Amino acid sequence: MRRYLRVLVLCLGCGFCSLLYALNQLSVSLEEEETGGGGKLKAAAASWPTVSGRVDGKGARSVGPKNHPGWSTRYRLMKTQSSETMHLAVVACGERLEETVTMIKSAIIFSIQPLQFHIFAEDHLHRGFKNILNGWKFLQTFNYTIYPITFPTENAAEWKKLFKPCASQRLFLPLILKEVDSLLYVDTDILFLRPVDDIWSLLKKFNSTQIAAMAPEHEEPRIGWYNRFARHPYYGKTGINSGVMLMNMTRMRRKYFKNDMTTARLQWGEILMPLLKKYKLNITWGDQDLLNIMFFHNPESLFVFPCHWNYRPDHCIYGSNCREAEEEGIFILHGNRGVYHDDKQPVFRAIYEALRNCSFGDDKVHSLLYPLELELLKTVHTYCGKIHKIFTKQLTKSIRDSYNRPTKES
Ligand SMILES: *[C@@H]1O[C@H](CO)[C@@H](O)[C@H](O)[C@H]1NC(C)=O
Ligand SMILES: *[C@@H]1O[C@H](CO)[C@@H](O)[C@H](O)[C@H]1NC(C)=O
Ligand SMILES: *[C@@H]1O[C@H](CO)[C@@H](O)[C@H](O)[C@H]1NC(C)=O
Ligand SMILES: *[C@@H]1O[C@H](CO)[C@@H](O)[C@H](O)[C@H]1NC(C)=O
Ligand SMILES: *[C@@H]1O[C@H](CO)[C@@H](O)[C@H](O)[C@H]1NC(C)=O
Repeated sequence: MRRYLRVLVLCLGCGFCSLLYALNQLSVSLEEEETGGGGKLKAAAASWPTVSGRVDGKGARSVGPKNHPGWSTRYRLMKTQSSETMHLAVVACGERLEETVTMIKSAIIFSIQPLQFHIFAEDHLHRGFKNILNGWKFLQTFNYTIYPITFPTENAAEWKKLFKPCASQRLFLPLILKEVDSLLYVDTDILFLRPVDDIWSLLKKFNSTQIAAMAPEHEEPRIGWYNRFARHPYYGKTGINSGVMLMNMTRMRRKYFKNDMTTARLQWGEILMPLLKKYKLNITWGDQDLLNIMFFHNPESLFVFPCHWNYRPDHCIYGSNCREAEEEGIFILHGNRGVYHDDKQPVFRAIYEALRNCSFGDDKVHSLLYPLELELLKTVHTYCGKIHKIFTKQLTKSIRDSYNRPTKES
């Protein structure tokens, strides 16, 4: 009996030892795997400052077409990372199809996390958007929805009487896109020279009272518009520009705004109509003026980002006055006043045309950057052309980064 017991103990002991050995082997082989392919993947991910390394198995599923090696790498990397979808809205009216599509292309080219576009457009533009964007669907890094120009369903008739639909659509975004937490609104004449991820990451820097972020309307009060001409209150020294507007819409929908119409605080949906009624004879730039009035009364709610996130001709036509752009280059270009389409500011036009002409499969260095640099040398007779290097500084970096990502792996 005792002998049987001893044999049993011996057997159990042996079993335990072999189990330990097996576990040990397993962990060794796992470690090897990690320092192999898996380790490289992590290294590549670590070099992207704006993407967190969390693994959640979401994101794009399939691998991209074989003839676009850069893109297919991006799919695989996205698969292994937490991918927060970035929501971007634009309002396109009139003849703005090509311009809007170029903005969207610039957002897609350099961005890392998936993008969801909300395109509000006049009906005659819908088919054009669909034709072009469906042709880009193979990229699998973005989705889009096209909406007619609309007002919130409640009181739509009354809104229509008061507001010009196209000019005021962006004010209604928090009320129309009820399911969306945060949104980057941009004008059609915006070009991204950095990944959208970079401006998106500013949302995380909001303090507890901030709900939206914009850039000042001017850096130089001597040429500022609001401080010289406005007949209504405006934010800060020179007002704010709403061409690039980052919004935490959850907070916008929740907030009660101080105002100069009643002693009660009003929510976003309640404040727009009385505000317009009070100021409609005094406003010049439409909804941007209303935003200025709103943030004049609620300054603690605004996050002001520097001018290189919304760089306009005003920043260079009379001499350079955007210090951040001089130091770090332009992050987001805003060609307002139609400068992409006339000959007044050839630097803006050259950047626009270079991005308009390029396609996703191109070698961006040889087909975009080099020809653009040659083009910019022809503009040095203008004030903006004298500082043309700040227009390509970030663009060059974005192109280099987008190439470094895939080559790390292959
Ligand atoms: C696009 O939408 C589809 C269906 O809702 C979703 O499965 C996919 O992940 C989305 N892609 C991106 C890049 O957001
Ligand atoms: C509109 O402008 C006029 C003239 O500057 C001014 O007297 C009036 O107070 C302004 N209205 C409002 C609501 O600020
Ligand atoms: C927006 O604000 C809400 C409420 O404070 C918060 O839960 C959410 O995480 C914020 N969104 C982003 C993208 O920071
Ligand atoms: C958030 O920042 C704004 C702008 O700097 C400031 O006015 C406000 O007081 C800050 N809020 C808190 C809670 O610190
Ligand atoms: C873009 O293409 C047009 C013709 O399609 C050409 O005239 C123009 O020079 C090109 N511009 C740039 C900057 O490549």
